[in-house]
Amino acid sequence: MYTEDKMSKGIKNICCIGAGYVGGPTMAVIAKKCPNIIVTVVDINEKKIDDWNNSDLTKLPIFEPGLDLIIKKCRNKNLFFTSDIKESIAKADMVFISVNTPTKTSGVGAGRASDLKWVEESARTVVKFAKGKTIVVEKSTIPVRTAEVIKCILDTSSDKRGEKKEFSILSNPEFLSEGNAIRDLENPDRVLIGGDDEKSIESLFNIYKEWVIPEKILCTNIWSSELSKLAANAFLAQKISSINTISGLCEKSGAEINEVAKAIGMDSRIGSQFLNAGPGFGGSCFKKDILNLIYLSDFYKLPEVAEYWEKVLEINHWQQNRIVEKIVSTLFGTLNRKKIAILGFSFKANTNDTRNSPAIKICKDLLGEGANLKIFDPKVDSKQIEKELNSKELDFISDENKGSWEYAESIYDAVQDSLGIVVLTEWEEFKSINWEKVSLLTRDPIWLFDTRNICNINEARTNNILVWNVGL
Ligand code: NAD
Ligand code: UGA
Repeated sequence: MYTEDKMSKGIKNICCIGAGYVGGPTMAVIAKKCPNIIVTVVDINEKKIDDWNNSDLTKLPIFEPGLDLIIKKCRNKNLFFTSDIKESIAKADMVFISVNTPTKTSGVGAGRASDLKWVEESARTVVKFAKGKTIVVEKSTIPVRTAEVIKCILDTSSDKRGEKKEFSILSNPEFLSEGNAIRDLENPDRVLIGGDDEKSIESLFNIYKEWVIPEKILCTNIWSSELSKLAANAFLAQKISSINTISGLCEKSGAEINEVAKAIGMDSRIGSQFLNAGPGFGGSCFKKDILNLIYLSDFYKLPEVAEYWEKVLEINHWQQNRIVEKIVSTLFGTLNRKKIAILGFSFKANTNDTRNSPAIKICKDLLGEGANLKIFDPKVDSKQIEKELNSKELDFISDENKGSWEYAESIYDAVQDSLGIVVLTEWEEFKSINWEKVSLLTRDPIWLFDTRNICNINEARTNNILVWNVGL
């Protein structure tokens, strides 16, 4: 039973700025676990807010297993999505900043530093509308020492107006991974809270304590918290690049990547997770967070540190290039006008997110080789694919040498008349493809390139499908 003395101390109203992949699910879980707190999620994108309020739960702006059930339970009870930013901040005791922090595309630090304009804008909005004492929580992933910037904006702006506003800042980075967001939020490995104001820390601690055991709630200084988030992502990405280098060695030496990954992963010091070789890591964060780490290392005059992390990104690029080269060389050195089925476009399974998906680079390279792609993904629609593939990068290729792509409604629609099938995302349904049916729909010789090592290759081979796997 939820009793008064267990209530999160003092916090009655939370506002979250940013209704994206982090803000939406994180606030949904807080609302579910703390029914006595009113949680309001705001966004400048009104369409997104409308989508969060859609009565058809299949139309929520993001897909995450289990999210729809929480929305159904809490929405318009203690969880609200609104564009009324002013009112929502004014009544909040605690404001989470959960906005995007992509890599800067121009100016100082372009291509490496994080663009903090949305964080800065959020801080300015908070200072404008907040009333009384407000705890501001950095949920976005930001460079170490960003809290200083936020504090500067909050303190000076508030003083200038002569209003009695009081702010304290906490860092509370998010470690959820997409596709598992609800599971990760409900059972986190740890929750990290960085700050120096004990009362504010206690308030946030008490919220998480509603469902996370205290031993898993780690309190650190604010800079450790900010840096730990970047370091955690860099370590995870480094593990993927490491296993991908070994996949290349396996292909040359007769070793098998699955066997090697299992053998090394059973060493508890290494750990078995994040040892799946594949088309390289995608997603909105690994690359940008490593770039940010590289930028910080250079900024603090640590070039060796910067170079070390640069290699992790280089290997990721190398892995994607060599997969494309493998496809081209296997299909006799040219893809011109050849039909190729692409299975999976999201950057990983169980999400509709395509940001930085390996599929984008690989598809663009195949289009540059003149291939005619038919792309199927269970959760990514054709509009989204068009947004990702519609770039000027291919403009230098003449129309007759440039490939084309179309959207497929199903696996079997995608493979129709193809000479190659490329599996790029580890969707569950790709594990049980009917290879007999596929072999009847495709042309000969037909090649399967399974970059995720998830298909039933024995059944594919039995049906005369030639197979290439990463690391085998
Ligand atoms: P997102 O792009 O999905 O969502 C961010 C939202 O913030 C957008 O809807 C945008 O419209 C809104 N926004 C931007 N400026 C605003 C403002 N001034 N006022 C109101 N709304 C504003 O981004 P995301 O994937 O949710 O990531 C958010 C942060 O969390 C990033 O720093 C990211 O690195 C970090 N993070 C992401 C993940 C993930 O799995 N996506 C996991 C952990 C941490
Ligand atoms: C990652 C981290 O796992 C989260 O802890 C972190 O909060 C988040 O980034 C973030 O800061 O945004 P996410 O990107 O959602 O989460 O997904 P991951 O499961 O980490 O996968 C990232 C990429 O690595 C995917 O393209 C995935 O296919 C690939 N991957 C993952 C592999 O190629 N091999 C593996 O063994 C694991």
